[in-house]
Amino acid sequence: MDLRLSGRVAVVTGASKGIGLAVVRTLLDEGARVVAASRRSGADLDALAGPDLVHVPVDLMDPEAPARVMARAAEEFGGLDILVNNAGGPPPGVSLPRFTFLAPDDAAWREMFEFNLFSVVRAVRAAIPLMLRRGGGAIVNVSSGGARQPAPMNVDYNAAKAGLNNLGKALSEEYGPQGIRVNTVSPGPVRTAWWTEEGGAADIIAAQVNTDRDTVIASLAPEMMSLTTGRLVDPQEVADVVALLASPRSGSTTGADYVVDGGFLKAV
Ligand SMILES: NC(=O)c1ccc[n+]([C@@H]2O[C@H](COP(=O)([O-])OP(=O)(O)OC[C@H]3O[C@@H](n4cnc5c(N)ncnc54)[C@H](OP(=O)(O)O)[C@@H]3O)[C@@H](O)[C@H]2O)c1
Repeated sequence: MDLRLSGRVAVVTGASKGIGLAVVRTLLDEGARVVAASRRSGADLDALAGPDLVHVPVDLMDPEAPARVMARAAEEFGGLDILVNNAGGPPPGVSLPRFTFLAPDDAAWREMFEFNLFSVVRAVRAAIPLMLRRGGGAIVNVSSGGARQPAPMNVDYNAAKAGLNNLGKALSEEYGPQGIRVNTVSPGPVRTAWWTEEGGAADIIAAQVNTDRDTVIASLAPEMMSLTTGRLVDPQEVADVVALLASPRSGSTTGADYVVDGGFLKAV
């Protein structure tokens, strides 16, 4: 299927690793021109270098950063058609999961909302005028199954993502008539650095139950989270849905929340 993304200009945040990197690769493969934002590049992103890719080194905890990224899209490629707000998860210096409501203090709650919600608010604020100038666009926000499945684990993260789902729906209502579609993709646990790196989620859970990282990734986490597929999600499986929602082929899809979660969510 041709996604009709050739020549479209996309910003992808959190682009150097995991889901964001898979989204960048997929959009480039589809012929899009991509502005990739993260604090640092990396070997995997560098390997995609070419005339259609620009990396902007920014810390999205900085309130001025999202506007700088959108401005760069306009400078380099003349405008903006697609915004993928993918950066999120543990804010810099934080490791998740945390297991109880009492774990994060006020400062931790604030950081969580800065990274997972307020940086998106600022990115959308800077992106909308550029999209309106081109007669429309597509925004895809990467949320989490936790937004719709509250639990004691990561209560602050889930609350921020629930806000993101709500924001996406509100934006879709306001800007749909002007040609901007806004959708959310909600992954379940995805096999990225967040899980696999030293001190990451798998190590934290392994320490709790006295096992090792590989066992958590291969079987314990899928069991704990009742994944009907029996395995963590692959980043590419999320990226493929993001690309479809970014595409004009999804022209009648807006205000939706697509889950890519291995069967984590059980509600109808
Ligand atoms: N992995 C999961 O299990 C899972 C599950 C549900 C939802 N999600 C959501 O999926 C999205 C991507 O997660 P992921 O697991 O793919 O993440 P990841 O592999 O940990 O990658 C995070 C990306 O964000 C960038 N980043 C981190 N802090 C940043 C900052 N302050 N400013 C700018 N960029 C920053 C990182 O690059 P730098 O470090 O160079 O900045 C990297 O490119 C997040 O919104 C997350 O909440 C993930």
